[in-house]
Amino acid sequence: MEIDQTMPKPEIAPPTGKLGVMTVGMGAVATTFIAGVELLRRGAAPAVGSLTQLGTIRLGKRTEGRSPRIKDFLPLAGLDRLVFGGWDIFPDSAYEAAQKAGVLDGPHQARVKRFLQGIRPMKAAFQQDYVRRLDGPHVKKAKNKFELAEQLRQDIRAFRRKSGASRLVMIWCASTEIFLKPHKVHQTVESFERAMKQNHPAIAPSMLYAWAAMREGVPFANGAPNLTVDIPAIQQLAQENGVPIAGKDFKTGQTLMKTIIAPGLKARMIGVNGWFSTNILGNRDGEVLDDPASFKTKEESKLGSLEYIFQPHLYEQLYNGIYHKVRINYYPPRRDNKEGWDNIDIFGWLGYPMQIKVDFLCRDSILAAPLALDLVLFLDLAQRAGMRGIQEWLSFYFKSPMCAPKLYPEHDLFIQLMKLKNTLRWMKGETLITHLGREYYD
Ligand SMILES: NC(=O)c1ccc[n+]([C@@H]2O[C@H](COP(=O)([O-])OP(=O)(O)OC[C@H]3O[C@@H](n4cnc5c(N)ncnc54)[C@H](O)[C@@H]3O)[C@@H](O)[C@H]2O)c1
Repeated sequence: MEIDQTMPKPEIAPPTGKLGVMTVGMGAVATTFIAGVELLRRGAAPAVGSLTQLGTIRLGKRTEGRSPRIKDFLPLAGLDRLVFGGWDIFPDSAYEAAQKAGVLDGPHQARVKRFLQGIRPMKAAFQQDYVRRLDGPHVKKAKNKFELAEQLRQDIRAFRRKSGASRLVMIWCASTEIFLKPHKVHQTVESFERAMKQNHPAIAPSMLYAWAAMREGVPFANGAPNLTVDIPAIQQLAQENGVPIAGKDFKTGQTLMKTIIAPGLKARMIGVNGWFSTNILGNRDGEVLDDPASFKTKEESKLGSLEYIFQPHLYEQLYNGIYHKVRINYYPPRRDNKEGWDNIDIFGWLGYPMQIKVDFLCRDSILAAPLALDLVLFLDLAQRAGMRGIQEWLSFYFKSPMCAPKLYPEHDLFIQLMKLKNTLRWMKGETLITHLGREYYD
């Protein structure tokens, strides 16, 4: 949403009671997130990478010296109030899943073993047609997709009851589905629900979770590049039921680097001829993305950022016809420790060519887990503040940010951060910061 200083600030309900976090998928990202929250609660590790936990926000003029922590400025749910549940196609507890994912080291795993053993996924809504490299036994059965989604609604209610949570948030941390295009059955709630009953192929499992979340009034974040909440039917339900939604595809490794470097090059009017990005990745996500149909979904999500940041229609001499290529190669020995290489062919004054090479040896889920935490806390805040539908101010977290149909998505990380912080200021009735600063000199 665009924030206008004149819009009245929202009333924010206090975060009383527990916040139930439902992860769709309990793989590498979800278990690293859940285990991480428990380690933070025990004071065993710092919350590195999390804006809600470590970030500050400047308020008022620079001379006022007011920069509280974001978590002290806003009524966010405390980490001690989070309870976890979710679904997976494997029945493993979160502990077994974390062991298999192999992201956390032995001592960290041991410290939260009991806690993770207590979290068991519910049976998933899954169909292999949508994730071809994956199959598992822990799946629901039903006559049609509508009934499957109704079962998910029952799960949500049962989790709410059992966990004693007063509010819930759902976050998609499951696999990337095959590439799907918007279809006419996605247009309205009526056509969508009819299509569910007819087992229409345009309705992917991820949409069933999103539909169930909307019907139950549960905010939804989409950590994968799937279409899921990018369709009018789900967005209409989000509006009608007062539910915030955000997506899509966590912005973590290579795309994070891209949206840090590209705005800098553009700020200095440095030209770019080509940007070649390749990765090796050996976790289950890498295996799923080895299927061309799932990779296509990821590729679309990864390719958009440069086009929008460089605006070649405005800067023809600098960015017209950039050759942009992205590759992901499944390479099991590296497991979750992805290596991403970028070769950037740039040019400067008088057109002289130069090159930049980036070799990012990252840990995929270590980068994604704090984003999951922030998204859960911010979506809960948004709902308590009566903010419904697409939460564009959370673009900061996504490779392929959602926005209103008439807008283009904002990919520049620094504009995204400014938008996020101004939204927080607006929520508390603080002056938005424009960085004009004339008043210090007049
Ligand atoms: N780690 C990152 O940096 C990063 C960044 C951006 C996006 N993502 C996306 O986040 C998602 C999770 O990544 P990961 O590394 O944890 O993958 P993962 O394979 O370790 O975990 C995904 C889990 O989802 C389960 N699953 C698949 N379909 C399901 C369904 N319909 N219902 C319930 N469970 C289902 C799988 O069994 C698996 O356990 C992927 O889509 C990935 O592309 C990750």
